[in-house]
Amino acid sequence: MNQEDFFKKITSHAKEYGFVFQSSEIYDGLSAVYDYGQNGVELKNNIRKYWWQAMVQFNENIVGIDSAIFMHPTIWKASGHVDAFNDPLIDNKDSKKRYRADVLVEDFLAKIEDKINKEVEKARKRFGETFDEQQFITTNARVLELKDQHATTSKKLYSIMEANDLVAFKQLIEDIGVVCPISGTRNWTDVRQFNLMFSTQMGSTAEGASEIYLRPETAQGIFVNYLNVQKTGRMKIPFGIAQTGKAFRNEIVARQFIFRMREFEQMEMQFFVRPGDELAWFEHWKKERMKWHLSLGIPASKYRFHDHEKLAHYANAAADIEFEFPFGFKELEGIHSRTDFDLSAHQKFSGKKIQYFDPELNESYVPFVVETSIGLDRMFLAMLSNSYNEEKLEDGSERVVLKLPAVLAPVKAAILPLVAKDGLPEKAREILQSLRYDFYCQYEEKDSIGKRYRRQDAIGTPYCITVDHQTLEDNTVTLRDRDSMQQERVSISDLHTLIAKKIRPEYN
Ligand code: GAP
Repeated sequence: MNQEDFFKKITSHAKEYGFVFQSSEIYDGLSAVYDYGQNGVELKNNIRKYWWQAMVQFNENIVGIDSAIFMHPTIWKASGHVDAFNDPLIDNKDSKKRYRADVLVEDFLAKIEDKINKEVEKARKRFGETFDEQQFITTNARVLELKDQHATTSKKLYSIMEANDLVAFKQLIEDIGVVCPISGTRNWTDVRQFNLMFSTQMGSTAEGASEIYLRPETAQGIFVNYLNVQKTGRMKIPFGIAQTGKAFRNEIVARQFIFRMREFEQMEMQFFVRPGDELAWFEHWKKERMKWHLSLGIPASKYRFHDHEKLAHYANAAADIEFEFPFGFKELEGIHSRTDFDLSAHQKFSGKKIQYFDPELNESYVPFVVETSIGLDRMFLAMLSNSYNEEKLEDGSERVVLKLPAVLAPVKAAILPLVAKDGLPEKAREILQSLRYDFYCQYEEKDSIGKRYRRQDAIGTPYCITVDHQTLEDNTVTLRDRDSMQQERVSISDLHTLIAKKIRPEYN
């Protein structure tokens, strides 16, 4: 199955099993906005909970907050978002379709890469076993020409973005001959900057109202509460503040399902440190965050670091943790050393002193910040795409199974009476009652046991507990493991311990 088909399967599975729905679907949907269904909300809650545990519960020096989405508009001036949170846009005059100028050039670069790969594959077929790929790509005239075109174009793109030269941007799009996929023409407008923040009015009358923004990141809510938390929590540097919550960006290129959304959720932690210590802490948090990802039992080959060469104006180091999505390695989480940029800017714009008195150094300073920032919806997509499996079974039948990390699975155990009579439902409900305070469990009696197992496999339930006639005699049940499909007979009194063990990751 190619990657595109695989991705389509995941999105339709997500809908069919109540994980993710298009927002406002009965009104033909709202682009790049999604709703989470009955299983999706559980998976999302579990990811958030596991992140919160790792940050707040497992670290003595990190506390959480929940700041409002609406904030004073000057905050976004201070943070630089009003002036610089922009994407370069261009319209095709014939189709009236709007594009991100950098994405048009990146798509062009991706096409060149495809062409190179095709040349390599053609040659591999032609030369068979004697094919030397390295030699081919360093000597073949066509490949060298394509590589040269790629290098020149990406260098130009980089310097245009660096210089924010919108005239040169349009020239580059014309020079490389980008054609609108809808109208098929090269009739482009000028490139202009478009701010990604959504704005709205606060106040009851138009005259008295002020323009405020829906936050494009949760981080600023942490910065503006730094003094409150440091003082009331008597926090000593180094310490961190964590927060999860909605963020909003008017993304122009919104594709790849929940990978890039206009309304999404972030899980961010700002770690406040002594100036000069930030790069050591940056390395610490890179390691720590990768450890968290790997604790979920996903192969290390699915993750990689991407260190940024081009740094944002406020950062002195930055790296992404990339995950191998069905459409390739893409950013899942960012770790940024943000210096004292944000706190200093808020100090300047608010006129309030934002400093820390360090008793060991006997001096005051504006703390430096190392941030970890992960998109909850992106993590959801990573888990969903990694866990989706179609399996052919020994008896020739097939099953779709979500091999989700047990700690994240929406339902931890399904309790299934073998037949809906003879006192088995009553016994099954007794077991449900004993487990549901600690674990989200489901009771199901409809359809054959095989069909019920398949339904639970499809939503990733790690354990199925089957209650049969023997249960009434000796208080044992069968416990079926989702991945191996092996069943073992266990005592009802052991169920709680077994499930608790299964859903506990190796972390901390
Ligand atoms: N406070 C830093 C910050 O917001 P970012 O790299 O812009 O940094 C952090 O965003 C993370 O938020 C990304 O790594 C990604 O997982 C997630 N994210 C960003 N934009 C998103 C979008 N439009 N849809 C879904 N997730 C997004």
